[in-house]
Amino acid sequence: MSRRQSRPNPSAVVERPSRRLTAPVRSRLGAVQASIADARQVHDLVNAFAQRGDMLPRTMGEVYENLRDFYVVRDSDQVLGCVALHIVWEDLAEVKSLAVRQEHQSRGLGALLVDACVREARALGLKTLFALTYRPDFFAKLGFRQADVMTLPRKVWNECYRCPKFPSCNEIAMVLDLGDPDQP
Ligand SMILES: CC(C)(COP(=O)(O)OP(=O)(O)OC[C@H]1O[C@@H](n2cnc3c(N)ncnc32)[C@H](O)[C@@H]1OP(=O)(O)O)[C@@H](O)C(=O)NCCC(=O)NCCS
Repeated sequence: MSRRQSRPNPSAVVERPSRRLTAPVRSRLGAVQASIADARQVHDLVNAFAQRGDMLPRTMGEVYENLRDFYVVRDSDQVLGCVALHIVWEDLAEVKSLAVRQEHQSRGLGALLVDACVREARALGLKTLFALTYRPDFFAKLGFRQADVMTLPRKVWNECYRCPKFPSCNEIAMVLDLGDPDQP
């Protein structure tokens, strides 16, 4: 290589390595149904963000009782992120307890976890998914639209009564229409 070629070009755009997961890494990690061994880490992860006011806290008992709602992304034995898909009614389910470890954020894991919920909700024949969130822009990127929380059935307020922010909470309802499961 000549000296001319090896000299750095000051006007060249310096590309920073992407933190996004490559397809092979994504398929290796994947979002899988949580197991009993994940429960403690799910609890700790959710409650770390709950302490910052980002989401509702969960007791260990709630995590165990709802463990079959949870998906996790795991690397070896470490839970990198979690989410729960909770059925509310015949046509409605909630995406809740979504959290990705701080040091693993912006790699596509949050999207991977929500996608697992969307797939299962479709497979179950649900029509609508919603999330109550302080991160509406994240959900908007995944196709959710903002909705008036009053259009959601009262049942979704169940947990709000025990939230420290109730009744002056400013969580935003984000909704994803999954279409009519009876239509091709
Ligand atoms: C919100 C959260 C789950 C996102 O997880 P993540 O793994 O960082 O998100 P991803 O990397 O999958 O991002 C997917 C897309 O959403 C975007 N995005 C991520 N967080 C965002 C935010 N807060 N606002 C707007 N867009 C966001 C990303 O840029 C990415 O867009 P791109 O595909 O165009 O690059 C994560 O930041 C988190 O755990 N936050 C703390 C807990 C919390 O607030 N949970 C939500 C409670 S409902």
